Amino acid sequence: MALTNGSTNGASNGDASSATNSISNPRFLIWGGEGWVAGHLKAYLESQGKDVHVTTIRMENREAVLAELDRVKPTHVLNAAGITGRPNVDWCEDNKETTIRSNVIGTLNLTDACFLRGVHCTVFATGCIYQYDEAHPIGGPGFIETDPPNFKGSFYSTTKGHAEAIMKNYSNCLILRLRMPVSDDLHPRNFVTKISKYEHVVDIPNSNTVLHDLLPASILLAEHNETGIYNFTNPGAISHNEVLTLFKNILQPDFTWKNFTLEEQANVIKAGRSNCELDTTKLTKKLKDYGYEVPEIHEAYRACFERMKAAGI
Ligand SMILES: NC(=O)c1ccc[n+]([C@@H]2O[C@H](COP(=O)([O-])OP(=O)(O)OC[C@H]3O[C@@H](n4cnc5c(N)ncnc54)[C@H](OP(=O)(O)O)[C@@H]3O)[C@@H](O)[C@H]2O)c1
Repeated sequence: MALTNGSTNGASNGDASSATNSISNPRFLIWGGEGWVAGHLKAYLESQGKDVHVTTIRMENREAVLAELDRVKPTHVLNAAGITGRPNVDWCEDNKETTIRSNVIGTLNLTDACFLRGVHCTVFATGCIYQYDEAHPIGGPGFIETDPPNFKGSFYSTTKGHAEAIMKNYSNCLILRLRMPVSDDLHPRNFVTKISKYEHVVDIPNSNTVLHDLLPASILLAEHNETGIYNFTNPGAISHNEVLTLFKNILQPDFTWKNFTLEEQANVIKAGRSNCELDTTKLTKKLKDYGYEVPEIHEAYRACFERMKAAGI
């Protein structure tokens, strides 16, 4: 990794010059500071006693971004900013320019500004750029990091796919592809909360990201100045019904739900929804180098719900 201007930022940035060197006193700056994933990152880093700062500066505002980097002097930016749409990604279909401004122009601008300042940039990206196909059927091989995106059904996913294709050329950039993130609570953005509140749910196996397992891994990779793209989910795939069955058995015995088909789902959404399994071989192999293991998704869900039960949720 070419962190050319490292000496101008952060007292401890000087030895961040190779892809596998860690630095002793990283300073983290979380972008999109008021977002859901950002909040979890901040809490995790604080629990580890790390030097962590947050910002809400708009990513597309080049001068303000550079000024913020010069003010805070991070060694590592964690980019958890982006437009995801409210109440959901359907919003992006009707607000394309705003979505582009954040997810393409802004995301690239922040990565480029970090490059100019010699700062490592971890991007919390998405794996919702694929859908099952003939070469990657349900239960078959998952998509690997070099597979070109094949999901064209949603403008949100389109912007994410395009930004990633350019960003991956930056030598300071680590791209982590999350999918359907799961937290240890019932926050409205938690995938489990979402599907437990829908009137009907489809039942398809998907890769999921249990934040409890993956956020520490993101910091491990960032601190070691890893770069490139990683599918950033627990290994394996789990269906909606399997998730809800575990939820019912461990947390809410009286919970019930109704399924519907993909065709029926298409009648109530504007943008398509990605369904796919990501291959996590690259991630698990890399994390093994650092002595870190990510549990298989069924095991991870069970542990997540048990933690919630123990916490009285
Ligand atoms: N949650 C998911 O299901 C999921 C799945 C896979 C990947 N991801 C990715 O993970 C990242 C974080 O997701 P999240 O769930 O934490 O989303 P979130 O709760 O909506 O947080 C995103 C934050 O980014 C901010 N933001 C948007 N555009 C910005 C810009 N141009 N400059 C600076 N800040 C901007 C938003 O602020 P405003 O509200 O003020 O715009 C918001 O605070 C996103 O990039 C998302 O695509 C999320």
